[in-house]
Amino acid sequence: MQFSEFKNKIYQKFGLDLNSYKENQLKRRLDNLLEKRKIRDYKEFFDLLCTKREEYHNFLDYLTINVTEFFRDPRMFQILETKVVPELLSKSPNLKVWSAACSTGAEPYSVSIILYEKSPRKTYRIDATDLDQSILQKAREGRYKADALKNESKQRLEKYFIRQGDEYIIKQEIKSKVYFKQHDLLADKYPTGYDLILCRNVTIYFTREAQDKINKQFANSLKPGGYLFIGGSETIFNPEKFGLKKVFPCFYRRD
Ligand SMILES: C[S@@+](CC[C@H](N)C(=O)[O-])C[C@H]1O[C@@H](n2cnc3c(N)ncnc32)[C@H](O)[C@@H]1O
Repeated sequence: MQFSEFKNKIYQKFGLDLNSYKENQLKRRLDNLLEKRKIRDYKEFFDLLCTKREEYHNFLDYLTINVTEFFRDPRMFQILETKVVPELLSKSPNLKVWSAACSTGAEPYSVSIILYEKSPRKTYRIDATDLDQSILQKAREGRYKADALKNESKQRLEKYFIRQGDEYIIKQEIKSKVYFKQHDLLADKYPTGYDLILCRNVTIYFTREAQDKINKQFANSLKPGGYLFIGGSETIFNPEKFGLKKVFPCFYRRD
């Protein structure tokens, strides 16, 4: 089975659009995986994915790299906290946020901590989505090892987490504001009406065409004046094409 046939079969069977992932990067990762697992070819791999649900989950985990941490890229979170959030709160006290491709939840919980401290009546809501159901289950549990929390201040760690052995569990007041749900950025309809959308460290895996499509949909999902917060190694080419304007590094505002 050729790689292109493998991608088509995956789409037919699981609805996962591998054609929107950067081809070279994807193929290199998959070839490494096959070699490591001593799987002979794509046909054998496809059959394995079809017969064992767990294998498909492992494949998704491997493919999409779930690495995340609280306040990932602290300088950008500082801009979020001191510039973007105050601006948004000055326009509306009830902020609606979407953390897209949220992985194990460190990102939406970081935003929840900021908004818990900043919003006067704590009337905010964060929708947090990811393609991977098993990662969302972990996110709902909200348990983290210290390495995911290295950017967290000591005060916040003590205030918003309960320590249990070598794990830190996020407290209910921060957790209860975050609503986890499965959403595929490449296939599903985009929800609307957001003041702030975070989509960080995922579109780097996608083709330019897929990136453009995603950014267009994000722009439509934002309220006028709302912000899109992307990852440090990502760029939106020609943001004005989508009605977006770069305001700070990593932050784009909808007109
Ligand atoms: C590297 S993590 C980024 C987590 C977080 N945004 C951050 O920056 O720390 C990438 C996440 O993208 C998710 N992902 C990959 N493809 C996706 C897709 N098509 N739709 C939604 N999420 C996807 C993966 O499951 C993974 O959890």
